[in-house]
Amino acid sequence: MAHCFVTRRLPGQALERLEAEHEVEVWSERRPPTHDDLIARTRDAEGILTLLTDRVDAELLEQAPNLRAISNYAVGVDNVDLEAATERGIPVGHTPDVLTDATADLTFALMLATARKLQEATGAAKRGDWITWEPAMFLGESVYGATLGIVGFGRIGQAVAKRAQGFDMTILHTDSTPLNELLQRSDLVTLHVPLTPDTHHLIDAEALSLMRPNAILVNTARGQIVDQDALLEALHNNAIAAAALDVTDPEPLPPDHPLLKTPNALITPHIGSATRAARERMADLAVANLEAALAGRPMPHQANPLP
Ligand code: GLV
Ligand code: GLV
Repeated sequence: MAHCFVTRRLPGQALERLEAEHEVEVWSERRPPTHDDLIARTRDAEGILTLLTDRVDAELLEQAPNLRAISNYAVGVDNVDLEAATERGIPVGHTPDVLTDATADLTFALMLATARKLQEATGAAKRGDWITWEPAMFLGESVYGATLGIVGFGRIGQAVAKRAQGFDMTILHTDSTPLNELLQRSDLVTLHVPLTPDTHHLIDAEALSLMRPNAILVNTARGQIVDQDALLEALHNNAIAAAALDVTDPEPLPPDHPLLKTPNALITPHIGSATRAARERMADLAVANLEAALAGRPMPHQANPLP
């Protein structure tokens, strides 16, 4: 029986399975644990199950001498210091595959919503601002047949491409088209790279300046991949048509953040994987990763290299 700290209740039955085998402490407050809370609760733990909002850094690892398994409830592991974990021989698990379709679906929802101005249109209908059928109201762009630029052609990027085929889109992706050319040619640009030092602010002022004035930027990856100040400026100057962001920098955005007041920005609160099925499968996988490492077996999905 190992002592495990789990930083939030998870959907489905997975935690019950973990609790049947191990001594499990679950963070039960609505507010997320602070970094100090995390350090305090991890101090005696052999395994931790963390969310993408929990920063697992070298400082935390130094104070957790018994820790031998980190399981992140996310495909992205940018919240975990992989190098520090690897140095200490601690495997870091993550949850790829099980959220790919949910995230690709949301990407399409955001593309369609933005191209067809759903935010403005539903707002007008709710406000009673729908006076009559107007030939020139809420005119958007066609998604069917558009040119789609996919930045990052891993699991999720490829799942987006599969959906795009049904829309007869011309698909460009960064495995075969240089980024600058992709930005210049695409009507819609969607980001599916992990956040690493190389992809931090990949979409900066210069990248945005290459995009077409009618282009739409969609980000369901990580907020820091986009230079948000440069994006705000591009949106305000109509240098691009619109942006749909499921991820921002920081998260959550403070309620008075200018992006939330920018009419051509559509913001969703990081819900890419938020289907019942995906979130339960993520819990199953996160628990399977943790159980495996605690039993001395390889994790089914490990993000850091270990012998
Ligand atoms: C969500 O953003 C994830 O990385 O799973
Ligand atoms: C990224 O981790 C992906 O699954 O595409």
